[in-house]
Amino acid sequence: MAKLLIIFLYCICANGEQFNLQGDAGLAYSVEVIMGHPHQKINLLIDTGSTTLAVASYSRQDSDKYFDANNSSSIYDSGKKVQATYFEGKWIGRLVSDYIQLPSMPLVPEVRTDMALIMESHNFFMNGSQWQGLLGLAYLPVGARGADVIVESWLDSLDRTLTRPVSFQLKLCATLSTQNATHYGNFQILDGKQKNENLNKSYRTTIIQKRWYEVGVLSVRVMRHVNKSSNPPDIDEHMCQTLNKIKAIVDSGTTNIRLPNCYFRQIVDDLRSAAQTSNMLITDDFWYAGETGCWPEPQDWSLPWVAVDLLSYEADNQYFTLMLSPQNYMRVVAAQNSSGESGTVSEYCYKLGFEKGGDETVLGYTAMEGFQVLFNRSAGWIGWQTSDCGPNTKIMGPFVVSSSLKSKCKLIKSAPDSTISIKAAQWALTAISVIAASILLYLLYPCLKTLLTRRLRSPSQISMSQAALVEQEST
Ligand SMILES: *[C@@H]1O[C@H](CO)[C@@H](O)[C@H](O)[C@H]1NC(C)=O
Ligand SMILES: *[C@@H]1O[C@H](CO)[C@@H](O)[C@H](O)[C@H]1NC(C)=O
Ligand SMILES: *[C@@H]1O[C@H](CO)[C@@H](O)[C@H](O)[C@H]1NC(C)=O
Ligand SMILES: *[C@@H]1O[C@H](CO)[C@@H](O)[C@H](O)[C@H]1NC(C)=O
Ligand SMILES: *[C@@H]1O[C@H](CO)[C@@H](O)[C@H](O)[C@H]1NC(C)=O
Ligand SMILES: *[C@@H]1O[C@H](CO)[C@@H](O)[C@H](O)[C@H]1NC(C)=O
Ligand SMILES: *[C@@H]1O[C@H](CO)[C@@H](O)[C@H](O)[C@H]1NC(C)=O
Ligand SMILES: *[C@@H]1O[C@H](CO)[C@@H](O)[C@H](O)[C@H]1NC(C)=O
Repeated sequence: MAKLLIIFLYCICANGEQFNLQGDAGLAYSVEVIMGHPHQKINLLIDTGSTTLAVASYSRQDSDKYFDANNSSSIYDSGKKVQATYFEGKWIGRLVSDYIQLPSMPLVPEVRTDMALIMESHNFFMNGSQWQGLLGLAYLPVGARGADVIVESWLDSLDRTLTRPVSFQLKLCATLSTQNATHYGNFQILDGKQKNENLNKSYRTTIIQKRWYEVGVLSVRVMRHVNKSSNPPDIDEHMCQTLNKIKAIVDSGTTNIRLPNCYFRQIVDDLRSAAQTSNMLITDDFWYAGETGCWPEPQDWSLPWVAVDLLSYEADNQYFTLMLSPQNYMRVVAAQNSSGESGTVSEYCYKLGFEKGGDETVLGYTAMEGFQVLFNRSAGWIGWQTSDCGPNTKIMGPFVVSSSLKSKCKLIKSAPDSTISIKAAQWALTAISVIAASILLYLLYPCLKTLLTRRLRSPSQISMSQAALVEQEST
């Protein structure tokens, strides 16, 4: 049986190139799944910033699409209560298990997996979002768990069924044309046997801790010249320590690149002065307050590139640089060109893809668009290649420095993975006695920034990283 499945997996990439991810501007990427028996079609947000599969189980005001547990004959209901608390919102649900399969990946087997059935929620679902739940892709230590249960993730269920570890790959392409703001991408499950048709050089970064996808972000800087021959600057000790102080994660469930306040300011100051130099009229509210800027035509930005330096997996005195073009960080949030009786009404709106975020660094999907990103969960690295879709991107390096970047940037974490799991479990136990629920799940409330352009109805960005867990853990 296992052998058969492996052979099946081997063929997945043959038809892997069509888009199976889709989303509205700012609302991340979601994939269609089929759940339960008989099958029900549901859209789940692809989230590398959380671990547990959670799905709406009731009809809501903003959407009547949900997973109807009463209709599934294969559901197993533990009866245990699951609760997710955010900074401002929450949901309450039940731990169940049922079958899930991805129609766009017919050769990836249908597996039974644990999931949280959301029974009621507050400020969780977004008006107009196309998804009814989250498909968490991170590691078990940040998944939901309790005294006598561990909520297994879908990927772990898949590993168990196939008796070998799988990896996954995200190719996020942003918008396909200037005519609308819908974005598309491709999600694939890989087992290491497939031939990668992208022959561009792959650069690997280390997953520092297997909880979220925690990586070493060494610096983020604005490039005045994209110039191959110029030497990259030395890594600034203070900057790299600050960027990784709490954690730096790769999170497809967050829209923007979130930086500690001081570096947000530095990057945005640089971009703003570059825009002024080239006589672009952009308000300070656009740069610093996340406001939307609209123009009658699609914009072709002549702004500098932004470099993100990542610790290399190959050696700890090596790093490489993701080069993000203005197309990455000047995010399209609305594109309209409609002709009516009063003539043509056209409007092209953008938002800055950077936001400030206290002490944390989050490489949201803005930093992944234009790349093909492979998450090798078991080996502990993330591979980056330039791709054939999305914003124009480059990768430079590898660059070698004289000493260990891990020690310079204090990237050596004291606790090994197992200790973290125990800590997480202990944390859950303590929290349970407080909240009197058998399971707890902490997620960060999606920062629903209110829209500044009234004409746009859907919210413009989200954030699904489980930041609250670490805060709880350290208290
Ligand atoms: C559940 O089954 C009933 C009866 O067949 C059907 O009317 C309903 O639409 C189903 N619910 C969902 C969410 O598919
Ligand atoms: C499922 O069945 C229960 C018990 O019959 C009922 O209370 C509940 O409203 C049903 N849920 C849905 C979504 O139809
Ligand atoms: C959600 O959107 C609908 C129309 O798209 C609107 O009527 C409704 O008031 C919105 N609800 C909230 C809570 O914003
Ligand atoms: C958006 O544009 C793409 C490319 O032109 C097109 O394939 C897609 O159907 C459009 N989507 C919507 C919702 O109009
Ligand atoms: C993941 O890493 C392992 C160990 O290095 C390797 O055998 C496997 O081929 C990798 N998977 C992919 C999809 O590259
Ligand atoms: C590239 O760098 C070299 C040396 O630093 C410099 O002379 C040249 O003008 C640069 N080119 C561009 C396009 O910035
Ligand atoms: C908008 O549509 C009009 C007529 O359909 C067309 O002439 C114009 O080029 C379009 N503008 C853009 C920016 O695509
Ligand atoms: C390789 O990267 C380049 C950009 O550097 C891109 O144009 C090309 O399409 C990529 N190839 C594939 C197969 O993705």
